[in-house]
Amino acid sequence: MIDRDTRRRRWLPAVLLPTLALFLVSCSNDNGQNSLAPKGKSAHTINNLFGPVFWVAAVIGVAVLTATVAFAVVFRYRPGTNDSPKQTHGSTPLEIGWTILPALILAVVAVPTVKTIFDLAREPKGHVLDVTVTGKQWWWQVEYPDAHVVTASELHIPVGRPVRIDLRSPDVVHSFWIPELAGKQDVIPGRTQKLVLRTDRPGTYLGQCAEFCGLSHANMRMRVIAQTPADFDVWLRGQQQGPVQRYEGSEVARLTGEKYQCINCHTFDKSSQAVYGPNLTHVGSRTTFAGGSQELNRQNLTKWVMDAPSLVPMQSKDCRKGPAPAYTCVGMPSFTKNTPPDQPVMTRADADQIVSYLLGER
Ligand code: CUA
Repeated sequence: MIDRDTRRRRWLPAVLLPTLALFLVSCSNDNGQNSLAPKGKSAHTINNLFGPVFWVAAVIGVAVLTATVAFAVVFRYRPGTNDSPKQTHGSTPLEIGWTILPALILAVVAVPTVKTIFDLAREPKGHVLDVTVTGKQWWWQVEYPDAHVVTASELHIPVGRPVRIDLRSPDVVHSFWIPELAGKQDVIPGRTQKLVLRTDRPGTYLGQCAEFCGLSHANMRMRVIAQTPADFDVWLRGQQQGPVQRYEGSEVARLTGEKYQCINCHTFDKSSQAVYGPNLTHVGSRTTFAGGSQELNRQNLTKWVMDAPSLVPMQSKDCRKGPAPAYTCVGMPSFTKNTPPDQPVMTRADADQIVSYLLGER
């Protein structure tokens, strides 16, 4: 026999834990990633489907749960009345009913669902902006092919204009998700996935890689900065300005005596962009860095340049000297601890010079 206290001790966590979970998830009501507060065309389309389907599912869920609990209580074992209930086998009307009713409900739900799928897959019309976004471990490369602009982890878009995104990955599966603007889209190596973004409201929209992609998956963020067409044009023209120097001419290489590799702060021309890391030519114009996980300021950037894995976990301990690229690190190595083979420990003076150069303060 289980005494009353033991029974209460068993029930308590079962009731308290779900209540606590519900309470905790409601703590953050303004995290900028609420797909139920759509601010883009695709997100509205999805939300218009989610609403009615949620209520259909909620009614069915509550009915099934209530019936399950009610049957368990009404027909529970009672000491002293251990007779088996009357046994029955099969009921044609019931079986036809519970086959046809769910089929009808699913058929009704399928109509708006299929329409939404086709709406989201439709090619955008009008003055379309083409962008290529490449998911990497652990940041997003953003390319405007027509303007020859390459940047990272911050996608600027003009309001009122459809943006057609080609999504690619050279390494593992990522998932591109800006909850307030559009649904999730998996990014799969070897394929080009499509996604259309459009919003009429200027603002900053936050996103997050939504597919586990390794050690720093949680730090693989993204933000979409929607601007008026005039502001967007100014930004784009700014990004088109130099310097895009080759390795040989890198200013950082000159400043630090070519001591540190990865083409001396990712400075690249077209041929090397896929290999080393984000284009840092205009890093000073961004609000974040490190896959969008760190606020861009001098202090954070200095810490990052010296010992990046202390801010964001990365597999830099496994850096090995390989054929090409020179170091097969995943992510930024530490230049103060576990330095890559043959690399000197970075001095604070070198880091300061590099950061000043990156922020364009020289
Ligand atoms: Cu990329 Cu998770």
